[in-house]
Amino acid sequence: MPELPSSFWGGWIIVLTVGSLLVLVGLVLSVYFFDRQPDDHAEVVWDETLREGNHPAPLWWFWLIVVLLVISVVYLLLYPGLGRYRGTLGWSQGHQLAHSEQRYADEFAAPHATLLGQSLSELAQNHLAMDAALSLFRVHCGTCHGEDAGGVAGYAPNLTDAAWQWGQRDEEILASITAGRQAAMPPWRMALGDDSVTVLADYLKVIGTQAADGPQYEQAAATFAGSCSVCHGASGEGKPALGAPDLTDGYWLYGSSVDDIAHSIARGRQGRMPAHADRLSEVQIRLLAAWLVSRSGSTLPESPIQSVRDK
Ligand code: HEC
Ligand code: HEC
Repeated sequence: MPELPSSFWGGWIIVLTVGSLLVLVGLVLSVYFFDRQPDDHAEVVWDETLREGNHPAPLWWFWLIVVLLVISVVYLLLYPGLGRYRGTLGWSQGHQLAHSEQRYADEFAAPHATLLGQSLSELAQNHLAMDAALSLFRVHCGTCHGEDAGGVAGYAPNLTDAAWQWGQRDEEILASITAGRQAAMPPWRMALGDDSVTVLADYLKVIGTQAADGPQYEQAAATFAGSCSVCHGASGEGKPALGAPDLTDGYWLYGSSVDDIAHSIARGRQGRMPAHADRLSEVQIRLLAAWLVSRSGSTLPESPIQSVRDK
């Protein structure tokens, strides 16, 4: 039981509890012993037919109240109820919870150990485990990534495709879920100016194709090499360690129009995936990662049409 904030409130609770019991005892004594009217059957008659009787309270009420009073006193001696007094049994909600948690941990220790010993691809074959993972995903991840992990345009990425912004190795996926991810794409408007940003956005639409070699892109290619390649890679292929996405795969997290891309460059992007280490157990995190591995496709879906994050 959490401690009461001060002994004043503990005392106050004792006064209230003992006070009400004493008032009850007084009431019972007065009704059954001190306050008995002579049983003269003098009746008050209201409105010709309504008669107010004056009969004593039935005796079984008395015994019922006595029994209840005894139970209350015994309860207050055994369990916490009187201020800070913990009761002779030492029972508390906290202990009860800890006890149930321990029982749960003991009961499931063996299956948990088995699950922890399996690789993600082994887990992905286990249909029961994957059913559990689906429910976990709906509760903990679906609000951001969509019920089916298909992503929410401009907000949280599709997790069923082949594009892994932060890497697709088991330990990278596990790290994304456990510790979360904070992307830091700096804003470039001040440094480059609006015109350069638009030219860069045009260039990114064709980067990786023959057309990108045209003379009109020379300036953009130079800017990219100077300012962007440090994170996005020399040919825009991305760097999972920094969460810098592949800019050549035709998949755009924040929308595929030149405007959306220019917006990303001008203002920067700071996508944040929250950490789940405190909310989920290790087994739960491994189940989720295995489920994502099992769903991860080999193709890229259509890019979200428009960015919704800024609207
Ligand atoms: C508050 C919204 C939110 C919740 C809840 C959330 N995510 Fe995310 N998640 C994101 C965002 C946003 C990103 C992209 C971060 C970025 O821009 O780099 C992301 C990225 C990821 C990535 C990395 C994807 C990649 O391509 O590398 C994985 C894996 C992931 N989330 C899994 C999960 C799982 C599993 C859960 C549930 C336990 C979950 N997320 C819950 C918002 C969320
Ligand atoms: C410090 C590293 C860093 C530098 C430098 C950097 N970026 Fe990025 N960029 C990122 C990261 C990280 C993201 C992912 C942001 C997110 O997930 O919210 C990103 C995202 C983007 C996106 C959005 C991609 C999408 O799929 O929607 C574009 C476009 C982009 N960067 C272009 C550029 C250009 C052009 C430059 C150079 C002017 C540049 N970046 C420089 C790290 C960087």
